[in-house]
Amino acid sequence: MQLGVCYYPEHWPRAWWAEDARRMREMGITWVRIAEFAWSRIEPSPGHFDWAWLDEAVETLHAQGLKVVMCTPTATPPKWLVDAMPDMLAVDANGQPRGHGSRRHYCFSHAGYRAESRRISRAVAERYGRHPAVAAWQTDNEYGCHDTVLSYSEAAKAGFRRWLAERHGTVAALNEAWGTVFWSMEYRSFDEVDAPVGTVTEAHPAHRLDWRRYASSEVRAFNREQCEILREASPGRPVSHNYMGFFTEFDHHEVAADLDIATWDSYPLGFTQNFFLRADEKAALARTGHPDIPAFHHDLYRGMCASVRPGAPAHGRWWVMEQQPGPVNWASWNPAPHDGMVRLWTWQALAHGAEVVSYFRWRQAPWSQEQMHTGLHRPDRSVDQGGVEAGQVGEELRTLGEALATLAAPGIVNRVALVFDYASVWMAQIQPQGADYLPIELHFRVYSALRTLGLDVDVVAPTASLDGYRLIVLPVQLHVADALAAALARAALAGAQIVLGPRAGSKTDRLSIPVNLAPGPLRDATGVSVQRVASLPPGLTVTLLPTAGLAGGWTSCEVSRWREDLAVDAGVVVEAVFGDDGRAALTCRPHGDGALRYVAGWLDESGWRSALQRTAEAAGLAVEPLHDGLRISRIGALVLACNFSDATLHWQPDAADSATTSSRPLIGGATLAPRGIALWHTQQAPSPSGAATEPQASRPATTGD
Ligand code: GAL
Repeated sequence: MQLGVCYYPEHWPRAWWAEDARRMREMGITWVRIAEFAWSRIEPSPGHFDWAWLDEAVETLHAQGLKVVMCTPTATPPKWLVDAMPDMLAVDANGQPRGHGSRRHYCFSHAGYRAESRRISRAVAERYGRHPAVAAWQTDNEYGCHDTVLSYSEAAKAGFRRWLAERHGTVAALNEAWGTVFWSMEYRSFDEVDAPVGTVTEAHPAHRLDWRRYASSEVRAFNREQCEILREASPGRPVSHNYMGFFTEFDHHEVAADLDIATWDSYPLGFTQNFFLRADEKAALARTGHPDIPAFHHDLYRGMCASVRPGAPAHGRWWVMEQQPGPVNWASWNPAPHDGMVRLWTWQALAHGAEVVSYFRWRQAPWSQEQMHTGLHRPDRSVDQGGVEAGQVGEELRTLGEALATLAAPGIVNRVALVFDYASVWMAQIQPQGADYLPIELHFRVYSALRTLGLDVDVVAPTASLDGYRLIVLPVQLHVADALAAALARAALAGAQIVLGPRAGSKTDRLSIPVNLAPGPLRDATGVSVQRVASLPPGLTVTLLPTAGLAGGWTSCEVSRWREDLAVDAGVVVEAVFGDDGRAALTCRPHGDGALRYVAGWLDESGWRSALQRTAEAAGLAVEPLHDGLRISRIGALVLACNFSDATLHWQPDAADSATTSSRPLIGGATLAPRGIALWHTQQAPSPSGAATEPQASRPATTGD
């Protein structure tokens, strides 16, 4: 559990560097990320390198014992390079090159730029790869930021044709796989296939899906080339990349297969304003952010570096590389966090397993695009609120010292998995069938419902091992591969409770309807068959009613946006029906010691909570419905309580409902002030969230003043 900061020595007078480094150390910072946008200073003109300033910056940080995350500067190709090679620019869907003058203007598929990316990465890696201060690497910066995964350049189109030939073998196979006979779209050769853009009405969905797969594979290839260079020139130093929030344009699991550490950039207030939350939520949560936005991503990125490697442990290494320090500049509205939030977000990340939380940035820039973005310090070098709170966490970490590492040592062992599949998200985006069928929102709402029940969650890839999970939820699994279907059946046989969201198994990997209809390979295991689907325009809702005898404290909820008509096999329990026509809305088919549930609509938040509470209890998990503003996170023998609300709340680990024999607070206590935290040491490691082997009674909700 360590702190870091993003620092731009090239933005400040050299005379300030030593003092900056000294204050970093005093603040409790141990890691400093540098140089991700510094290409024009490293190589001011082609082939002429100026290392002196960067050498001095690295030495200055090293002199204070700080560890450096060195970056490849490929997110900002300099003007001279663009002028020398104008077709390296990415091209937008209208055929317009995306010019120099900001950042990320390159096309992933351009062979010349790929060579440049390797050349500059090698130069930086050879210069600093064995420097004792350089202890980790970051490739590029935020792949895809500013909508830059897809490029419609000539290079991308040529690469796409090659990729198609490799994937499909023959053009006849492509025609068959896509179904191009529809509207006479058949091709005679791969050379005839264009990017799926500029068509009169929507382009063929299978064509669009393959285009997105191809673009994703280009990101992976670009990143992998850098990783190989860094590993060769800088042995033993881990390689990372910083992912973003609510971003799905490339398959992060695949890119992570080449990384040692997945990091992500956490801007809870910006994400709250810019994404799908309702206006009332955006207003109410403006200064704290939605409590589950950071947590959802922590749990997603914790799974990254582990999920696709056979034999890897359940969790991979991960950091927060950029933590919001105060108001940002890029959201629709940029409110200021309440005092206490920077500290709370930092502790929240540490309690979800972050090795390092690194703040963006040390000091606010007085000029350029991000001059309205705060840092830990103001441009005049005075410390800002974010800096005060970072210093407070630094002090807390220092006080708790080694004990913290020991107490967190067994790490996180969760019993709830939420499966996150990038390809299914793309399918739902390509074919939403209703304007508000937002796959990311559905993932998030389901995750949030689990968290409000006091459950700790692993967000895992569809290829991850599901062994040991008691509750497995697949909110947006449009495509169910045979291997996943088999893993789910095995997990259910072994006692897992499985919940499938609407549209599960509704598409083949070619984005067509399975021959046996949805849910495709899960047809028998679920005992349902989807006969018809309908999206619901705003204002058109239907009530979902639990069936008699099964309600268990659940009265009803609203279904909006999406509903399905199910044919239900004998032996399948209908747990809830649609209020208007009495058709099955929630089914449960027992399977071995477990069961598979199918949810045939878009439930409101209370609906997901009720459905998941019932299921978690059936799985023998200890459920603890929490106050809206309270979240609990468990790691090793540590339990963190975070109060996001305006109310004073009371909470402490309950000795009665876990293996805990006694608990003592390390920070705070049972009374949580608004935006307060409490960190508890449980005498005996708490059973992983709800890991009870016997069904347990749920705790009553938290009390608030
Ligand atoms: C991130 C980016 C940083 C900076 C920051 C501002 O997306 O990686 O370079 O722009 O946002 O919040």
